[in-house]
Amino acid sequence: PVLVVDFGAQYAQLIARRVREAQVYSEVVPHTATVEEMLARDPAAIVLSGGPSSVYAEGAPSMDARLVEAGVPVFGICYGFQLLSQALGGTVEATGAREYGRTEVRLLGDGGVLHRELPATHPAWMSHGDSVTKAPEGCTVTATSEGAPVAGFENRAARIAGVQYHPEVMHSPHGQEVLRRFLHDIAGIRPHWTTASIVDDQVSRIREQIGEGRAICGLSGGVDSAVAAALVQRAIGDRLTCVFVDHGLLRSGERTQVERDYVSATGVNLVTVDARERFLGALAGVTDPERKRKIIGREFIRVFEQAERDLKAEGDYRFLVQGTLYPDVVESGGGTGTSNIKSHHNVGGLPEDLQFSLVEPLRLLFKDEVRRVGLELGLPETIVARQPFPGPGLGIRIIGEVTADRLDTLRAADAIAREELTAAGLDREIWQCPVVLLADVRSVGVQGDGRTYGHPIVLRPVSSEDAMTADWTRLPYEVLERISTRVTNEVAEVNRVTLDVTSKPPGTIEWE
Ligand code: XMP
Repeated sequence: PVLVVDFGAQYAQLIARRVREAQVYSEVVPHTATVEEMLARDPAAIVLSGGPSSVYAEGAPSMDARLVEAGVPVFGICYGFQLLSQALGGTVEATGAREYGRTEVRLLGDGGVLHRELPATHPAWMSHGDSVTKAPEGCTVTATSEGAPVAGFENRAARIAGVQYHPEVMHSPHGQEVLRRFLHDIAGIRPHWTTASIVDDQVSRIREQIGEGRAICGLSGGVDSAVAAALVQRAIGDRLTCVFVDHGLLRSGERTQVERDYVSATGVNLVTVDARERFLGALAGVTDPERKRKIIGREFIRVFEQAERDLKAEGDYRFLVQGTLYPDVVESGGGTGTSNIKSHHNVGGLPEDLQFSLVEPLRLLFKDEVRRVGLELGLPETIVARQPFPGPGLGIRIIGEVTADRLDTLRAADAIAREELTAAGLDREIWQCPVVLLADVRSVGVQGDGRTYGHPIVLRPVSSEDAMTADWTRLPYEVLERISTRVTNEVAEVNRVTLDVTSKPPGTIEWE
C-alpha cells in the first residue's frame, strides 16, 4: 500500500482517498508508527500529510530520515513537506509570511515532473506559518509562491518530492494531477486499484476467512450493508443468510424496499425479524444519546444471535457480516487514536461477549468506492445511490425518550421531507437530510381558530464528500416552504419547522 502518515490534522483521510482516485491503494497510519512498522508493510510510497504543528514546536511529531534511506518514495504535503525538507538537510524557517487559503503558485523552470505543462501560475490551497527556504541537496525547486519561496521540489532519481500547498483539497484544481504524477511518474507505481480489482480481492479474502462456514448479515436497507452482503453472497453464495431487523426505528417504506427490491436484485436468502417491541422496551425511559446507541447496538446483536439459533437447523452460522467503512474505523479510534466522538453502533457499540466472528469486507473502503462496488456487483441504482441512514435509525433523531407515537410522528415528517427533496431533484446535491424531532420541546401555534401546543422538527440538510466534514445545504426557499407547509398540515403533532444551519464541525450531522 501507499501509507499516508497522519500528523493530526483532518487531511490524512482525504489524501488517502485522493491516492485511491489515482487507482493506487492507500491506508492511513498514525505518525506514531515507527519506521520498522511502516517498512514491514512494504509500502509502495509514503505520503506525509499536513498537520497543525510547527516543525520547531516542542514535542512536534517528526520524521525519521531512515524512511528515505530505505529507498521508499516519499511525498510531503504542507507540514509533511517541511518535515521532509528538514530531515534531508533543507531549511525551514518562520519567515513571517504566512499564507492561508487560495494562493497563486508560480512554476520555476519547466515545472519538473510534478508541474510540467500546468499553467505557469495557478491557484492552490495553502495553510502554513513556517516555510521551506532552502530545498534539500539534490532536490530541484519547481514551484514558488509569495509566502513560500520553496513551494514544491522533487528529486526524481531519489523518488522524493513534496509541495507546500494542499493538493488533496478541491481548492487546488491541479492538485489531483500533481498527486497522480508523484505516484505514477516519480514513485513508479502502476495504477491497479480499480473497482473490479477491489471486488476480486475482497471476494477471495472472504472465501479465505469463511471457508466452508456460513454467515449471516444484518441488512439495514442502507448502501453499506447491502453492498457488504452482495460481496459475501458472491463469495459464498447460498451459505449467506441476510437478516433484516425491523427495530421500529425505520423510516417509512424501508422494510418494503429491502424485502422487495434487494431480494429481487440479488436473490439472497432473507429473514425478517419483527423486533419492534424488544427495541422499544429496551429504550423506554432512555434519553442519553450514548446510552441509546449502546442499547441499540446491543439489541441488534442479541437479535442476530437469536436468528442464528433459529437457523441452527440449516447449519452453523459462525460469521456475522457488517458494513463497517474505513472512516468508521478511523473515527472510532481504530486509525489514528483520535478521540471517540460517537459510538457508531457497528464499531464502538458491540457487546464484549460477541458470539460471532466479524466479516467486514468494506472495512478498508470509502463510501464512493462502496457505491462503485455495488454497481459492479449489479445492485440497482435505487439501492446504491441511497443517502446514508444511521444504523440506530430514528432512535437518535428523537431528542428525548423514544416512544411508538413519537416514532410515528417523526416517520410522517421525514417521509414528507424526503418526498419533496426528491421531487425537487435535490437528492444528488445533498449528502443526506436528517429530520429531527424535538420531542421534549413544545411551542404554541395556531391552526384554524385553535391553539396548538406541539413539537418542532428540525431539517438538517447537509452537503459532504465523506461525512467527516459537512456544510449545511442552501436549500431553495420554495422547497423549504413546501416541506414546512405540508409537515405542519399533515402531521398533527408538529406545529413548527426549523432549519439547522450549522456546519460540521462544530455540529455533527446527526443530533445525537
Ligand atoms: P455524524 O453524526 O457523526 O454522522 O456527523 C456522520 C455520518 O454517519 C452516520 N451515522 C451512523 N451510521 N451507524 C451508522 O451506520 C451509526 O451509529 C451512525 N451514527 C451516525 C450519519 O448519518 C452520517 O452520515
